[in-house]
Amino acid sequence: GVSERVEDLLGRMTLPEKVGQMLQLDARQDLSEIVLERLAGSILHTSPAKLVEAAELVSRTRLRIPLITAEDCIHGHGFWPGATVFPTQLAMAATWDATLVERVGRATATEAAATGVHWTFSPVLCISRDLRWGRVDETFGEDPFLIGELGAAMIRGYQGEGLTDPTAVLATAKHFAGYSETQGGRDASEADISRRKLRSWFLPPFERAAAEGCRVFMLGYQSMDGVPITANKWLLNDVLKGEWGFTGTLVTDWDNVGRMVWEQKVCADHAEAATVAVRAGNDVIMTTPAFFEGAQEAVRRGSLRVEEIDAAVRRILRLKFELGLFENPRTPDSARQREVIGCSAHTSLNLEVARRSLVLLRNDGVLPLSPSSGPRRLAVFGPNADDVSAQLGDWAGNSGQVDWMPDGHPRELTVTVLDGLRELLPDGWALDFDPAVEIERRAPDPEGSTFPDGQPRPPVSIGVPAEPARLGAARELAAAADYAIVVVGDTVNLTGEGRSTATLELQGGQIALLDTVAATGTPMIVVLLDGKPHALPESAVTAAAVVQAFNPGMRGGQAIAELLFGLIEPTGRMPISAARHVGQQPVFYNQLRGQHGTRYADLTQDPLFAFGEGLSYTTVVYDGLSVEEPEVPADGTIRATVRLSNTGTRPALETVQVYVSDLVTSVTWAARELKAYRQVTVPAGESLTVHLDLAARDCSLVDADGRRVVEPGDFELLVGPNSRPSSLLSAKFRIS
Ligand code: IFM
Repeated sequence: GVSERVEDLLGRMTLPEKVGQMLQLDARQDLSEIVLERLAGSILHTSPAKLVEAAELVSRTRLRIPLITAEDCIHGHGFWPGATVFPTQLAMAATWDATLVERVGRATATEAAATGVHWTFSPVLCISRDLRWGRVDETFGEDPFLIGELGAAMIRGYQGEGLTDPTAVLATAKHFAGYSETQGGRDASEADISRRKLRSWFLPPFERAAAEGCRVFMLGYQSMDGVPITANKWLLNDVLKGEWGFTGTLVTDWDNVGRMVWEQKVCADHAEAATVAVRAGNDVIMTTPAFFEGAQEAVRRGSLRVEEIDAAVRRILRLKFELGLFENPRTPDSARQREVIGCSAHTSLNLEVARRSLVLLRNDGVLPLSPSSGPRRLAVFGPNADDVSAQLGDWAGNSGQVDWMPDGHPRELTVTVLDGLRELLPDGWALDFDPAVEIERRAPDPEGSTFPDGQPRPPVSIGVPAEPARLGAARELAAAADYAIVVVGDTVNLTGEGRSTATLELQGGQIALLDTVAATGTPMIVVLLDGKPHALPESAVTAAAVVQAFNPGMRGGQAIAELLFGLIEPTGRMPISAARHVGQQPVFYNQLRGQHGTRYADLTQDPLFAFGEGLSYTTVVYDGLSVEEPEVPADGTIRATVRLSNTGTRPALETVQVYVSDLVTSVTWAARELKAYRQVTVPAGESLTVHLDLAARDCSLVDADGRRVVEPGDFELLVGPNSRPSSLLSAKFRIS
């Protein structure tokens, strides 16, 4: 069995070989040093050539223990030329469809496995609360329940039928835990978060991932209450391994162990850092080469016992045996790559996800554009209308992080919004295109006082200001058109790890462009391609239509054009709230009750667009919410029904959202929390009854002692199309 093989191998390993197994090093560096000198057990950020070289080097080591290859395949294997790049996690979350997300996980694993990747650093289960944070696009949004549902689905997809399945890859639940609770949105800061707050909102998606059998957990960069996460024995050992019974493997984030020495300065040297990290429960040490010497020195000093290292190495070897790497090292398989990378099944899945992810936030009736209305002239504007990187988002070759993909994915694989519109343009219609303004595509340098071309940099805005002449041309084009489509948003330089923003405003003259086009009076359709919801200017908020697309992936432009021309229905729902102004941060829906006196004097607390919001091309009316049994025991089920009537002429895919409010609680608690949802198709002109079931044990809260409990008493079931109180029907029930 696996255990015997692990023990046999471990028994034959020297201390340096054991410590080496714990190391995960960056394959972009010298591979012979990584494999032959530091005896690393794992590599990340590989390229096709590096994988061949690594396999050859391993065959020269004493024990020939196969390497495990890890990669950030976050929404597809974005770092493999031509691989399918799906919508980002945030865009995927807007589908609210776990089955689709599971299929994305499966497709990603199949492509990644063919390239020799054994392990993906996905999904992200962080809760996005402050939109200034750079990594909002990598999350499933702001709600712990939705994140848990979609995260579990993604994990099932990645890990497939089990690790012996050659198309399975290890999934990683990250970033454990509390990483997103930033200060001022700044990435990787101290997370000011109590254990009770962690248990209330931040841990549930991770607990769900552990229960789903997610094989790896990755830490974030944050410290909490003075303790770097890498040293957090309570969270890593007591909670994860103890309470939740997690038997998988823990990987640090990038140089977390080194950071305890050089950045956080809680360890005097690498020997101390190694001791702290291993003792807290870390197994795989990402990109801290000095751990190799540090851990051995710690053993020599007597501060770390070999048995403690053995425990970590055992978990790593177990993974390698379970993946079957000793029999089949799962190196890149070019025949298989030709079969699966970017294959037509994955491309259609990609289009399906993009179609389902688009959120229609505003529509005065301008959409869908009707080809039968006779010849029309479209004017298309904006820096993201024809931009591959805005379409693909972060963690794709085009974000410039990958030196072996300088040109990114082949251009023809991505359908931009402009491509999509041109492709579907009805006969006799005309289309003019002018981006009109630019967003700075270079990495911003907030420290510098000038742009690279020598122009003075405005103190806050990092964008290139709009040129009056170009705005003038845009004004003329818009005025002559029947409809103006303005595709705005951000760039991959304004989202991602270490790329948080101080502002939520559209950059680079985009506001001036929107204002200019709106002022012509031509109906304006705003399409947002961005990594997070932006605080939109009045001209966009009052536009004829607004479509939130986030980063919709390679087929996103096609899906958007189909939506605008009415070939598909809008089905996406916001997985996150949008703010009116950056000063509203955080603006998430499940805020604590008791906000009396906390109102702004100068601004509403209402979000611009609320969690769960999204329109259809028809109207669905909710009525007749009723609860079957008004009183249920704490281990019982609340059963309810609600009637949906489609009063329009087009079908709807409705996401029926079920929130619960616990009317009196022993501690302050959220006014309402999403506890379930169902997606149902309501044909035009028809009504149907939807059955909703909810376990009473899910109506829980975390009490003052940090225990998750159901407090018997009165509750309210809130059912409707989004989280806004005014949109929800309510019915009382009691838990006895
Ligand atoms: O997986 C990532 C993580 O999300 C952030 N830091 C680097 C890791 C490896 O690329």
